[in-house]
Amino acid sequence: MIENYVHYQLTENVEVLRLLDYETKYFEALWEIPEGIAYNSYIVKSYDSVVLVDTWKIGYGDKLVELLDKIGALDRLTHIITHHLEPDHSGSLVELIKAKPDIIVVGHPLSAKLIESQYGIRVNFKPVRDKEELKLSNLHFSFYYTPWLHWPETIVSYLHNDKVFFTCDVFGSYGAYREKLLSVLNSEERSRYFKLARKYFANVVGHYRDFVLKSLNKLLELVERSEYIAPAHGLILERDETLYMAKLYEKWAKGTDLKDFKILVIYNSMYGFIEKLINKLVESLKDTGYNISTYAFTWNKRPLISEIIGDAIDASILIVGVSTYENKTFPLVEYTIKLLVHKVGCKKTIIIGTYGWSGKTTELKNILKNLGCSEVYCYETTPSQLLDVIRQVKNLIKMEAQFSQ
Ligand code: FEO
Repeated sequence: MIENYVHYQLTENVEVLRLLDYETKYFEALWEIPEGIAYNSYIVKSYDSVVLVDTWKIGYGDKLVELLDKIGALDRLTHIITHHLEPDHSGSLVELIKAKPDIIVVGHPLSAKLIESQYGIRVNFKPVRDKEELKLSNLHFSFYYTPWLHWPETIVSYLHNDKVFFTCDVFGSYGAYREKLLSVLNSEERSRYFKLARKYFANVVGHYRDFVLKSLNKLLELVERSEYIAPAHGLILERDETLYMAKLYEKWAKGTDLKDFKILVIYNSMYGFIEKLINKLVESLKDTGYNISTYAFTWNKRPLISEIIGDAIDASILIVGVSTYENKTFPLVEYTIKLLVHKVGCKKTIIIGTYGWSGKTTELKNILKNLGCSEVYCYETTPSQLLDVIRQVKNLIKMEAQFSQ
């Protein structure tokens, strides 16, 4: 019995089969996703066969086979296009091949090796080259290499017949939506959707921002030709939205956008001293014109690290309040900052501490230096020096704001 899926007709030849996953708590065993996630598999029908574009997550293969059978697509299934081998999209291959051993799998040449190493099976494999066109009955596909978005052998594909651009992870989002199209969401829901897309980008693709920029022209050219962007996660985008999403990708891939005037504040506070300091600092920064997002690790607050990383991608300044823990940098702050730099790069960073056993701002500065971050400023303060430190930090940020205009 299969539940938690939706099945829609998208265009004359394309149908959407979306699995809604409310069970995964930590995507890639790392990212907290209380909003859930979905896996879009697409059925593309010709006059005499069916092509499946990506599959569902590993563990759901039997359900996908059952559903394809139920809707009459399994018998005519001849090809599966796989855009990369991460098992949230290729994870049903084993069951599909078992049900239909003659299926031809289409993908990047490296994917054949990955299928064998991941799943221990050999399949009828049709490798495609960059920009290769493939005609299957009356269907006309083109394939494009987009290496490291975010796997080495990632490709995207374009269906000429219906002008549908299948992008897999690119332009995708977290969230387990039942709607077919992004356009049906109201403005509040749309704003949330784009935040989830930003979070997905930062968490999953963010480390490979330079590769996004390298593939950007290719992606934009395809976006301009497309009626629909059909990602493997999230909702389907129509023409007006496709370019907007592509522009967001460009902005996120470039990372820090000084014109956003956004400060990200991350701090820990074991007994309230740093929290008091940060609260005063944030209050004093309200007249700078910056938007400020604050995340606190305290005795009763534990933010989602996936959301911090998502929010960090377009921040231009990072303020870190950190305490000393067993003569080291507080561990959750160290972990978060390292992951943040790995995923979204260095930011202009201000580190604030309150001495404790011995101030750890310099230790964190050295950690950042080892990660290649050079613009890092440290301040240690006692309560009596607090106002002076806040004044210095505020001046630094005001200078940054003037520089950005
Ligand atoms: Fe890279 Fe959604 O898999």
